[in-house]
Amino acid sequence: MEKKGKAMEIRTFGCQMNFHDSEKIAGILKSKGYEESKDTKDADIIVFNTCSIREKAEQKFFSQLGRIKSLKKRKPSLKIVVTGCIAQQEGEKILKRAPYVDFIIGPQNIPFLNKIIESNDAKVFIAKNQEIANIELPIERKDKVKAWVNIMYGCNNFCSYCVVPYTRGSEISRNSVSIIKEIKELTKAGCKEVILLGQNVNSYHSDINFPQLLKEINKIDPLKRIRFVTSHPKDLSDEVIYAIKDLEKVCEHIHLPLQSGSTRILNLMNRKYTYSDYMKKIEKLRKEVPNIAITSDIIAGFPQETDEDHKETLNALKDIEFDGIYAFKYSNRPNTKSSKMDGQVPCDIKSQRLNEILALQNMITERKNKLLEGTIQEVLIDSVDRNNLKGRNRQNKIITIEYDSEIKIGDLINVKILKSFRHSLQGEKYK
Ligand code: SAH
Ligand code: SF4
Ligand code: F3S
Repeated sequence: MEKKGKAMEIRTFGCQMNFHDSEKIAGILKSKGYEESKDTKDADIIVFNTCSIREKAEQKFFSQLGRIKSLKKRKPSLKIVVTGCIAQQEGEKILKRAPYVDFIIGPQNIPFLNKIIESNDAKVFIAKNQEIANIELPIERKDKVKAWVNIMYGCNNFCSYCVVPYTRGSEISRNSVSIIKEIKELTKAGCKEVILLGQNVNSYHSDINFPQLLKEINKIDPLKRIRFVTSHPKDLSDEVIYAIKDLEKVCEHIHLPLQSGSTRILNLMNRKYTYSDYMKKIEKLRKEVPNIAITSDIIAGFPQETDEDHKETLNALKDIEFDGIYAFKYSNRPNTKSSKMDGQVPCDIKSQRLNEILALQNMITERKNKLLEGTIQEVLIDSVDRNNLKGRNRQNKIITIEYDSEIKIGDLINVKILKSFRHSLQGEKYK
C-alpha cells in the first residue's frame, strides 16, 4: 500500500507579516513531506501562527487552542505548535495554560521549525536570531499573481501602546541583492505585483535606502506593480513621495497610520509627529501624486483621551478624507507603557467613540467611491469564482466584473466602473 503523506494545518491570525510567515511555515513543512490537511481531524501537525496586537486577537487564539485539547487526547501523535507574536511574548507561560502544546516558536525561530519538531529536547524557542534577514526559506505561496516580500523585520519605534517591538525584536533590513533576486524569481513564475513588507518600510536601510530599493525593483520586468506596507509618518521622506510619483510601477496608494487627530494624544503614544506634521505630509503627497489613495489606522480611547481629543480625531477624518481606515478600540497590552498610564478610558466610551469614527469614515468612503462611477480603472485580476472576476486597481480598491472566459488571472485590464459600494466597486471590461 502507498504510504500516506503527513498532513498539516496552519491557522493564521494578525497582519500581512504573519500571513507571509505562514507561507514560509507551509514551505518549510512541505519540504519535510507535509501536505495541506483537508480536515482538522486528519492533521498530524497544527500550527497556530498567533497575533498579540489586541486582547481580542489573543482571546481568539486561546479559545481555538482550547478546542484542540480533546483532539490531542484522542491522537497523542498530533503535534501542536504555537508560533508568532504570542509565542514570543508568552513563551513558557503558554505551557502552563495549555500543557498539551508541543512547541512554542517565536517569529525569529521559524527557520528552525523542521529541526525543532523532530527533536524532543526542548519546547520553547524564543531566543534572538539576528540572522533572520539572511536566511532563505522555501515559501509556499497561494497567490501566484501578487506576492509578499519581506524587506525588513522588527521595529524600533516603541509606540507606547504597541507590542511589536517586543514580539518582533529590533529593526533588521534585508540586503537588497537578495530582495531583488527573490522578486526576479517571482516574476519568472508569473508574479505581477509585489507587496514589500516591514513594520516601518521608510526606515529600510541596508546597502541602499528605501527609495533606492524602489528604483531597483522598478527596473524588474515583467513586474507590473509595487506596493509597500507600512509607512510611519515620521519617516516618510520627500524621496519616497517622489518615488511614488516618478516610478511607473509603484502604485498610487499609501497606508499611513495616523492613530489620533490630537497632538497631545500622539505625544502620549510616542508617535514623534504632530497632527500638523502629518497634514503637511498628506498635502505634499496629494500635491505630487494627485490621484493617490491614502488609508490609515485609528485607535479609539487611548488612555487620557478626552471628548475634545476624540473630536480632533473626527475633525481629522473630515479634513483628510481617507479612502479607508482600520479603526480599533485601544487595548492594554503586556509590557507597553500605555498599559500603565493613568486615565484608562472605560470600555463603553471606547465603543461609542469607535462607532462614531466608523460611521463618519463609512460616509466618506462611500462618497469617495461614488466619485469613481463612470471612470476607467486599471485592474489586475487576482481571483476568479463561478460568477465574478476580482482584482484591484492601482489605488488598491477591490473591483469585480462579471465572469468572462477570455480574461485570466494575472491579466491587467481596463474596467469601467458601473456601481460603487463601501468596500468594493463593480464594473465591466472596457476596450
Ligand atoms: N507597524 C505598523 C503596524 C502596527 S499594528 C504601523 O506602525 O502602522 C497595526 C495597527 O494596530 C496600528 O497601526 C494600531 O492602529 C493598532 N494597534 C496597535 N496596538 C494597539 C493597541 N494596543 N490597541 C489598539 N490598537 C492597536
Ligand atoms: Fe508598533 Fe509603532 Fe512599531 Fe508600528 S511603528 S509596529 S505601531 S511600535
Ligand atoms: Fe502582526 Fe499581530 Fe505580531 S499585527 S506583528 S502578528 S502582534
